[in-house]
Amino acid sequence: MSNMGIFSRRHSNKKLLNDDRIATKEMLKEELKYHSVRKIDPTEIRTAMDISQRSLSERYSKELMHEIYGAWPDGFMVYSTESDILGFLAGKRVTQSEARILMLATTEKYRSLGIGSELIENFVQTCRNYGIITVRLEVRIDNKRGIEFYQRHGFIVTSILRNYYSDGSDAYVMWKQLI
Ligand SMILES: CC(C)(COP(=O)(O)OP(=O)(O)OC[C@H]1O[C@@H](n2cnc3c(N)ncnc32)[C@H](O)[C@@H]1OP(=O)(O)O)[C@@H](O)C(=O)NCCC(=O)NCCS
Repeated sequence: MSNMGIFSRRHSNKKLLNDDRIATKEMLKEELKYHSVRKIDPTEIRTAMDISQRSLSERYSKELMHEIYGAWPDGFMVYSTESDILGFLAGKRVTQSEARILMLATTEKYRSLGIGSELIENFVQTCRNYGIITVRLEVRIDNKRGIEFYQRHGFIVTSILRNYYSDGSDAYVMWKQLI
C-alpha cells in the first residue's frame, strides 16, 4: 500500500471525527432551541449547586446559596430549557453602583454553545437596569478558558489576590465598566 493511501485514510478518519463533532453540536443546539434565561426559582437552587459542584473548585453551602438569592433575587439567574437547568450565574449587589459575579457555571456537555454568554449578557443588562456601573469578579489564575471568556465579554484583569481560594490558589480580579 502506498503512503498516500495511509495518509488519505487517516485524513478521512479525522474528517469523520470532525463531522461527528459537528453533528453532535448541532443536535445539542437543537435541544437549546426553546430556552430562557430568567431569575432562579428557590426550588432550583439545589440544581445550581449540583452544576457548581461539578464545575467550580470552591464549595458553597445550601444556606449560602439561599442567602445570595435572598439578598438580590434578580442577580441569581438560570439558563433553562423545557426540561433542564443547564447553567447559572449568581451575583451580588455590593453597593448602589457595583455588582460582583460570585459564581458562573454551565453543564459541561453543553459548553461552547453560547449558554455562558447569554447568562453574562443578561446579568450585565440586569445590572444596567439597576443603575450599576461596574461589575467585578475573581477567577483562578490557571482558569485560562474562564479568563478568556470574561475578556471576550469586556472584563479586564486589574490585580491579583494571593492565596484567595481555600486550596491556596491565587485569583485575578477582573472588572467591567458598564458606562
Ligand atoms: C466559563 C464557562 C461558564 C463558559 O460557559 P459556556 O457555556 O461554554 O460559554 P459560551 O458557549 O457562551 O462561550 C464559550 C465558547 O463558546 C463560543 N460560543 C459563544 N457563543 C456561541 C454560540 N452561539 N455557538 C457556538 N459557540 C459559541 C465562544 O467563542 C467560546 O469559545 P471557546 O469554546 O473557545 O471558549 C464554562 O466553561 C464553565 O462553566 N466553566 C467551569 C466553571 C468556570 O470556570 N466558571 C468561570 C470562572 S468562575
